[in-house]
Amino acid sequence: MIDGRARAAELRAAVAAAVPGFASVAHRPPGLAVVLVGEDGPSAVYVRSKERATAEAGMSGFVHRLPADVSQADLLALVARLNAAPDVDGILVQLPLPPQVNPHAVIEAIDPAKDIDGFHPLNAGRLALGEPALTPCTPLGCLILLRERLGDLAGRHAVVVGRSNIVGKPMAQLLLAESCTVTVAHSRTRDLPALTRAADILVAAVGRPEMIRGADVKPGACVIDVGINRVDAGGGKSRLVGDVHFDSAAAVAGAITPVPGGVGPMTIAVLLRNTLHAAHARAGLPAPAV
Ligand code: GUN
Repeated sequence: MIDGRARAAELRAAVAAAVPGFASVAHRPPGLAVVLVGEDGPSAVYVRSKERATAEAGMSGFVHRLPADVSQADLLALVARLNAAPDVDGILVQLPLPPQVNPHAVIEAIDPAKDIDGFHPLNAGRLALGEPALTPCTPLGCLILLRERLGDLAGRHAVVVGRSNIVGKPMAQLLLAESCTVTVAHSRTRDLPALTRAADILVAAVGRPEMIRGADVKPGACVIDVGINRVDAGGGKSRLVGDVHFDSAAAVAGAITPVPGGVGPMTIAVLLRNTLHAAHARAGLPAPAV
């Protein structure tokens, strides 16, 4: 079992330890602005945990809560203000956005130097070209776990299930940069089990509860489960499950991340790490070691 919670706690502690050094040079802590549109669903929960983690790391957190019916113009005006704010190093607009807002327009409006999600086309392009870039938090968190478990990833066959801009595509780019042989599978893929059974590294990011079973996993493979799905547990209760059926996959895999307690905590830790990096770059300081 890969303990993402423990690894994330280490990373958060390392980031927190680097904050006073930055603050002594910049005369302020690193600052992260989070924008939440509407108050419903999992997004509000994620934003609260980001808020808490930012404070625990000794960083400044600025949370902007906007009504669900906010206009695109008003949201773009807020992004422009955050771009211009000297004490804001990172800007995160929580996705998904309501239908009246074009998410691409919002992401492209964020200053690429403050794009700690790594979603701006300039950062996505830099990642694809192998240039230094702010890198999406969830895939980078997965890569940290994979590197620590497996060491050198070169030559391994990595199968990424899911092609989202947030996880699947950047995950594939990161694994390619590690010299993996990368296959990207998705909802239209034919004979998915034949592909997943060939994977030395299997990253599941499709949002379908327990879709990948032990029979779909190569013996000894390293399985990274990005899914967070809330399912009915009976009696009016619900529970969180991944995209991987944990018990059957764990019996076959060499290593596997649980849900919860695997990739999820890493995402927030990398968000703080990216904010620290953005703060250093904006202040003209060399990149921190974390
Ligand atoms: N929604 C789900 N994951 C993410 C993420 O990593 N960043 C943002 N901004 N929104 C998300």
